[in-house]
Amino acid sequence: MNTKKIITIDGPAGSGKSSTSKRVASELGYTYLDSGSMYRAVTLKVLELNINPQSDRQVQEIAEKAEIELISQNGQNQILLDGKDVTSEIREPKISKTISSVAANKGVRSILAEKQKEIGKYSGIVAEGRDMGTVVFPDADLKIYMTASIQARAERRYKQLLESGIKVDLDKLISEIRERDKMDSTRKHSPLRQADDSIILDTSNMSLDDQVNWIVDKAKALGANVS
Ligand code: DC
Repeated sequence: MNTKKIITIDGPAGSGKSSTSKRVASELGYTYLDSGSMYRAVTLKVLELNINPQSDRQVQEIAEKAEIELISQNGQNQILLDGKDVTSEIREPKISKTISSVAANKGVRSILAEKQKEIGKYSGIVAEGRDMGTVVFPDADLKIYMTASIQARAERRYKQLLESGIKVDLDKLISEIRERDKMDSTRKHSPLRQADDSIILDTSNMSLDDQVNWIVDKAKALGANVS
């Protein structure tokens, strides 16, 4: 039996995908693919080069040329853009304001989807994003759709940002998340939606440990190996 499975974890911002996906990957000894970080890196480059984010062709060119590397070492994940470590910078609020138009760009999506498929070729993988189970890995072994109430999601994001030294207004965060949900789920190309064959995990009242154990148990039941 193939014990190297493809696990996809999709869902809206702040549903707990990132912390859960990282831990699930590390418990199974799998590669963690943070697809959102790739959209963030392209957005950073668009901002750095002062490109109009609405210019589909120019933004697509940026995505084509950008060298994006995801590095996982000793449980730490790093993202390099053209050789430079941008792990913290891509989490800054300036990125969130522009990213929806970058993520809505059809050309960018197909370029990044190819890179993501390549990463998924060689080992067990936990792929996190919005379209991992629907578009990039439609044949994944286990598809999870994580969700939570807007309030719970905003509070989590608030805490995460605070821990990285960024203080924001909670109400503003709630309206930004609401706006981002709307854009993510109504965009024309690869909108955020639940794959028909995915399992819903509502994390509003779940601890991180519970979320991780729930998914790891499901993966093991499918025969995923644990290293
Ligand atoms: O998961 P995140 O917050 O880092 O995602 C950042 C943005 O990228 C979010 O607005 C949606 C977009 N995204 C996407 O469109 N498709 C993905 N597979 C991952 C993220």
